[in-house]
Amino acid sequence: MRFLSSLAVAACLVSASLGAQIAHKALPNGAVSPDKLAATPSHDETWWKHAFVYEIYPRSFQDSNGDGIGDLNGITQRLDYLQKLGVDAIWIAPMFPSPQVDFGYDVSDYVAVDPQYGTMADMGKLIAQGKAHNVRIVLDFVLNHTSDKHQWFLESAASRTNPKADWYVWNDGLPVSTSGLTDYQKKYEHEGMVPPNNWVSVFGGSAWEWVPARKQFYYHKFYKQQPDLNWRNPAVEKAMFDSMGFWLDKGVAGFRLDAVPTLFEDTKLRNEPEKGGLNAQGDPNLNTIYTDNLPEVHGVIRRMRAMVSKYPGDRVLIGETYLPNTVELDKWYGGAQHNELQLPMDMLVGFPRPKKGTSPLNAAVFRQYISEVETQIHGSQPLLVFDNHDNVRSIDRFTDGKHTNQIAKLIATMLFTTRATAMSYYGAEIGMPTTTPARKEDVKDPIGITGWPKEKGRDGERTPMQWTPGPQAGFSTNSNTWLPIPKSYKKINVQTETGAPDSLLNWYMQLLALRRSNAALHEGGIVMLNKDNADVLSYVRTAPAGSAPVVIAVNMSAQPRTITLDLSGTGITGQTAKTLMTSDPSLQPVTSLTNVVLPPYTSWIASVQ
Ligand code: NOJ
Repeated sequence: MRFLSSLAVAACLVSASLGAQIAHKALPNGAVSPDKLAATPSHDETWWKHAFVYEIYPRSFQDSNGDGIGDLNGITQRLDYLQKLGVDAIWIAPMFPSPQVDFGYDVSDYVAVDPQYGTMADMGKLIAQGKAHNVRIVLDFVLNHTSDKHQWFLESAASRTNPKADWYVWNDGLPVSTSGLTDYQKKYEHEGMVPPNNWVSVFGGSAWEWVPARKQFYYHKFYKQQPDLNWRNPAVEKAMFDSMGFWLDKGVAGFRLDAVPTLFEDTKLRNEPEKGGLNAQGDPNLNTIYTDNLPEVHGVIRRMRAMVSKYPGDRVLIGETYLPNTVELDKWYGGAQHNELQLPMDMLVGFPRPKKGTSPLNAAVFRQYISEVETQIHGSQPLLVFDNHDNVRSIDRFTDGKHTNQIAKLIATMLFTTRATAMSYYGAEIGMPTTTPARKEDVKDPIGITGWPKEKGRDGERTPMQWTPGPQAGFSTNSNTWLPIPKSYKKINVQTETGAPDSLLNWYMQLLALRRSNAALHEGGIVMLNKDNADVLSYVRTAPAGSAPVVIAVNMSAQPRTITLDLSGTGITGQTAKTLMTSDPSLQPVTSLTNVVLPPYTSWIASVQ
């Protein structure tokens, strides 16, 4: 949540009702209502619509050469595991050459592999072996900024007249004598000049950095070693699209676009409104209206989609889209035109922002957002995600401290049983906890150093994958791993959980297998049930002809809850239930949809006959 809050996401609750939407009318112009699309079974076999996309942080997944850092050959070695788990595609966090200030999100060459992760030949092997395992490779493309060591920036920073002078966002700044400057601006004076406005870097300090050679400031939304590219310059777009083409030619399945809403800034460089108070880095909280989600970005994305669409094989564009609401999310699909990203991430369902003192595990909030993303995106494909390398792991965000495993199963149930494409993060499937460094001197993520102790950085969710109860958890032969192996590895690891029938890992595997084999889960529509129930989230996946619908119910409270699932209005007449999966054995024999007792935090999945 710490990363989220810095991007100033304002969750806006708008009422939605999905259950009533099974009987809709055609729109006046003959188009089909997006609601209807959501509730109707689809036979669309486009791979990414049914996919499980698994994020790998390459430093932390598997070390193959004993240097204590994960690498590409390590990922290749683990393809059997990924295939068995049910992974359709892996998104690999940036593995391009980089000074690693932001662990790869500061790219110094977009068309090469960082030697610490391997070689281009290793990447070729991973793509080919991935294909043999039905695991596609999605690369992480950092469009907003490069490293300050990228050749483009070195050239750009050298003078005001070089051919790349305009590739980044440069500004003269203002004389310190200018009236009306904010105190914040004055703090960053160089040679009598101050930044042109009050913009703050997400990672702390002014977003403007002085370069004596140009006697100008450049803008950086993130670290100062990550200068923002100037996307108003067509040469930048061309260079970036060419780099993407390089990888598409090599056979990658698509891209996850890093921080993509931040490509453009206000041309007038207006001060951003202050929201009051200071953030964890001690900077004023701003409403980032002039540096985030500017409309100009959509033109770039439409051209990018057209470029990528020229390649065969359903290549996909996934967006890192922290947005305030579902209406904004729809714009990233291209609305009714469907001509932008295929899969902008919905960060509302998986990263709810509860009021202080209340639980994020709230059936009404999940119902609200899942309904919205089914009905407000013009029939596009939702993408749900609960975990990534920037946020405290979901197992720690949603636990009540007592029912951790049951709650993790419940989150996985939601992730894999709605109509959405599912995205997860290495280690979530075994319940790896967030292991935040206890001492400042152990922190590797720079924001954890500058923000300590209020902001301890993102190391906690990036610790090495826990494969076995043996040395270094099977991650590396080197005892000096780049981040320490958390103590939890003795119990929480792939090997141990594989052999434990009730483990979280086996829950994931069964859910994924069911999602593939069961027609309703694979391609059915979705209708919310019992919409007034404050504690139990329930819905039905409507079935294609000839197969049985499936009901899903999760109890989000610490008390047992009795439910009677009301299928009226769904067109489903069956009343007999057959349990397909449950996280509590008491539900195994259930045969009815009436008076079903769900123990605390239980998940129940049943077909309706
Ligand atoms: C979002 C990435 O997920 C995060 O890890 C990174 O620090 C920023 N973008 C900057 O690239």
